[in-house]
Amino acid sequence: MRVLVTGAAGMIGRKLVDRLIRDGVLAGRPITALDLHDIVPPAASGGGIAVTAHTGDLSAPGAAAALVAARPDVIFHLAGVVSGEAETDFDLGYRVNLDGTKALFDAVHAAAYMPRVVFTSSIAVFGAPFPDVIPDDFHLTPLTSYGTQKMIGEALLADYSRKGIFDGIGIRLPTICVRPGKANKAASSFFSGIIREPLNGLPAILPVSRSVVHTHASPRSAVGFLIRAAEIDGALVGPRRNLVMPGVAVTVGEQIEALRRIAGERIAGLIEEKPDPAIWAIVQNWPTRFAASRARELGFVAEAGFDEIVRVYIEEELGGRVPS
Ligand SMILES: NC(=O)c1ccc[n+]([C@@H]2O[C@H](COP(=O)([O-])OP(=O)(O)OC[C@H]3O[C@@H](n4cnc5c(N)ncnc54)[C@H](O)[C@@H]3O)[C@@H](O)[C@H]2O)c1
Repeated sequence: MRVLVTGAAGMIGRKLVDRLIRDGVLAGRPITALDLHDIVPPAASGGGIAVTAHTGDLSAPGAAAALVAARPDVIFHLAGVVSGEAETDFDLGYRVNLDGTKALFDAVHAAAYMPRVVFTSSIAVFGAPFPDVIPDDFHLTPLTSYGTQKMIGEALLADYSRKGIFDGIGIRLPTICVRPGKANKAASSFFSGIIREPLNGLPAILPVSRSVVHTHASPRSAVGFLIRAAEIDGALVGPRRNLVMPGVAVTVGEQIEALRRIAGERIAGLIEEKPDPAIWAIVQNWPTRFAASRARELGFVAEAGFDEIVRVYIEEELGGRVPS
């Protein structure tokens, strides 16, 4: 089968591509060709799989059509501008997150065939005020441009699936933690920073109170969700095509305790509390816990606790060495 990944040079995209190449199969069929697309050059070599890297702007005229011309059986659509950037650059956010997504969906329509399309949405489609535990059928009232763009993408995905244009599954990812590399422009960046920086021997700033509750899943789980979404029988999902993914709901204090348990006092002591009213104001409007009942029933699996999330980072990014 042929697989296309947009946003393949991104954090989740790179990990997804590594897993696809490692597995060599998807939905029980050997992967023969893998097309990687990003605005920055995606890199990968594929053993027995023919890997082709495509570089460009997905929202540019003709870009999506060129990618879909080879009729990939599964399309993982990950390309996007993250929350902070979509908020500060309104036009860029709409162009990439909405126009790029619609261009991809329309390219599949024009190619007239029926791939599985997996779309990475976000819990940013929900807006405050929230109940303690957010049910799967909570109304969609995003309070950011990013959340609005994702919500429109979800609606398009559901409608194009209903019309038989493609077979889509949207997955609403919680915050993916611990994000490797440098801090990004997402307002949620500190949730990873307070674990990642100390584990690399660096100081970290905690801009909010330790009592803030948030839901996390590791990059490894995110890849697991994507694979499950590619493989699941659409009939089991039914017409509600956009699913809240499971995760681990913890306070920031519990995150720090997990770090202390695993890496010790000195590492956890590298976190400095420095309240930032601007970040605090944003975090106030964020959802905390999700039921994610449908996704769990449908076989989407996240970590059982935050310790496991820290351990995934240590295994994948630090070669299994716990610093002390
Ligand atoms: N990481 C998270 O916590 C999280 C949470 C919810 C949803 N998501 C969604 O998951 C997807 C992947 O997230 P990520 O963390 O890997 O983000 P990322 O920023 O690391 O990757 C996104 C990729 O999209 C590419 N891109 C941006 N504009 C593009 C364009 N015009 N054309 C083609 N490619 C373009 C970027 O270069 C980048 O490599 C995104 O759609 C994001 O909105 C992520």
